Amino acid sequence: VNIGVLISGGGTNLQALIDSIDKGYINGKIKVVISNRKDAYGLVRARKNLIEALYINRKEFNSDIEFDLKILDELEKRQVELVVLAGYLKVLSKEFVNRYKNRIINIHPSLIPSFCGKGYYGEKVHRAVLDYGVKITGATVHFVDEGADTGPIILQEAVFVDNNDTVDTLREKVLEIEHKLLPMAVKLFCENKLEVIGRKVIIRD
Ligand code: GRF
Repeated sequence: VNIGVLISGGGTNLQALIDSIDKGYINGKIKVVISNRKDAYGLVRARKNLIEALYINRKEFNSDIEFDLKILDELEKRQVELVVLAGYLKVLSKEFVNRYKNRIINIHPSLIPSFCGKGYYGEKVHRAVLDYGVKITGATVHFVDEGADTGPIILQEAVFVDNNDTVDTLREKVLEIEHKLLPMAVKLFCENKLEVIGRKVIIRD
């Protein structure tokens, strides 16, 4: 399966995918990595692994739609079949989501539907988890629909929140889960084991 990865930052989830493919765990190929941030270290990770890496500057476009259409163009001309959002901080347009219906996978650092949606990204998620005082948190991998972090859930895993946890220690604990769940979800997709029925994702063995 040809994979396109969208990033905005450090790209540790991208790195987990690259490593999983190199180990033969995922039967897929990352054709391109696209970032909306010029300084995203994930672009460096891609280039180090001889993967085409593009920075697309939102400011060169008149609207979010045109920006998305440019990204779609780059993906489609490389026959990308699965889009993975790995720390990508922009919400996709309806056009984009419809073009890749149930073929866009996102990773979110909380147990959706808690601490997700508008404004909940990166450290803000872990800050909210600590402020609320929940006893477990975790990561969620889901298909992307038109909302923010609202699509059908593929995989989730929980981790305990300890009394002395900070945003940093929580982020590390959750990232460890992310780096396991995202490759697992991509693997299942590449093996055609994911079936979406309404809001539910059925994992066929
Ligand atoms: C991670 O918390 C991920 O869950 C979120 O973006 C953050 C950065 O991920 N989607 P990465 O290190 O850039 O992959």
